[in-house]
Amino acid sequence: MFEQITDTDWLAEPGRLIQQAEALLAGQTDRVANAANLSALLFLSLPDVNWAGFYFLKEGRLLVGPFQGQPACVEIPLGKGVCGTAAVTRRVLRVADVDAFEGHIACDAATRSEIVIPLLRGDELLGVLDIDSPVPGRFGKGDERMLRQIAEIYVRSLGTPRKPADRG
Ligand code: SME
Repeated sequence: MFEQITDTDWLAEPGRLIQQAEALLAGQTDRVANAANLSALLFLSLPDVNWAGFYFLKEGRLLVGPFQGQPACVEIPLGKGVCGTAAVTRRVLRVADVDAFEGHIACDAATRSEIVIPLLRGDELLGVLDIDSPVPGRFGKGDERMLRQIAEIYVRSLGTPRKPADRG
């Protein structure tokens, strides 16, 4: 199940990892459980990746969630680093050379490139999905397209939030 996939493979066969992600999250709505399994799937499936995981928005900053890779910074202020910048701008950030990104937060000195996808449920920012690589310029447009879909699958898996009136 966890065959490695390269950007070229992805362009040739766009559905494989997406299908795996859909299957892995089917029937489960817990944000930690689904983030944990997705981190493992991405870390094991994508070549040249040294960190794959989640930061969740909590009390006005990003707090580390489930991930695979070296221990990471626990908290990232909004607007700081690649993650905090992607979160406040609500845009995907593909950084080909992390040393050229002012304010990059180095959790693993081996990281050379990075992609961060904001997790949005409608207008609500839930956090970010962050993938790091020891290879410069590792993440191409195909990776971005695929990871945007993975992020959508994750957000959809959580369902719609209950209204306060629904809480018992
Ligand atoms: N490099 C990120 C910090 C998180 S770690 O890479 C896991 C950043 O600049 O926001």
